[in-house]
Amino acid sequence: MTRSAASPDQEAVEAGLVEAVVASFDACSDPRLKELMVSLVRHLHAFIRDVRLSEEEWGAAIEFLTRAGHITDDVRQEFILLSDILGASMQTININNAAYENATEATVFGPFFVEDAPRVALGGDVAFGAPGEPCWVEGTVTDTHGNALAGARIEVWEADEDGLYDVQYDAAKRSARGHLFSDTDGSYRFWGLTPTPYPIPDDGPVGQLLDAVGRSPLRASHLHFMVSHPGCRTLVTHIFPEGDPIGERDSVFGVKQSLIKRFEQQAAGTPTPDGRAVEGTWSRVRFDIVLAPTGA
Ligand code: BEZ
Ligand code: FE
Repeated sequence: MTRSAASPDQEAVEAGLVEAVVASFDACSDPRLKELMVSLVRHLHAFIRDVRLSEEEWGAAIEFLTRAGHITDDVRQEFILLSDILGASMQTININNAAYENATEATVFGPFFVEDAPRVALGGDVAFGAPGEPCWVEGTVTDTHGNALAGARIEVWEADEDGLYDVQYDAAKRSARGHLFSDTDGSYRFWGLTPTPYPIPDDGPVGQLLDAVGRSPLRASHLHFMVSHPGCRTLVTHIFPEGDPIGERDSVFGVKQSLIKRFEQQAAGTPTPDGRAVEGTWSRVRFDIVLAPTGA
């Protein structure tokens, strides 16, 4: 659709308003806050003018944000979901975790981390009874020069095979999550679940928006990690099974090529690395984690 160009008088009115709002921050004593507000106003007005926003559309946007506010509480954060599906979370992560040498790449945190996940020993099982195919996960934690990082804290969490996190059943439930520490040679190993795809919470305004634009709420299958060690930048990331068709259209744009790993399917009866008896099929994956130095 071609829009008729605004008349010079109309242009002057619109541009004048932008400058008046920008000037309203002149006395702001916090330079960063001023920079953020001035840039926000310039981009917001550019958007409104670019699409020639109607008053009905403005009203619909206000109503959408109001519904997002009403559904948000201590455990449901609709504004973060909105940021996620617009790629704003992932872009913020990209900016703040710039690629550094061979360090493992970061991706979205998501809303399902909890602080008090149980500790497991090396080789322990973080499933804690959650349904799903067992998966043996192993690797090393090193710095970017290949030096082993002993005692790195490794937090892991994931959805069960029904696509739900423990806290979605009951805020107090703890399963399919845990933490462990890397060994003296930097190695780690644990049993988890083979990841499966699941939808982000889509029963609110963000789900309705996805539906209206013909997008799926599904996240690519993944296993979350948060790895920390003194002197290193804390890494928040996931690994994604190779061959997952959802990988191409992850609803929150979290997939990075370097984080796609081969989860090798094992037939029932295949001996396990630690001699554990597993009924049925299982899988195994290797994920070598490289941490960037603090401040990188
Ligand atoms: C998750 O990975 O758990 C997640 C990430 C972003 C939005 C919703 C869920
Ligand atoms: Fe997740």
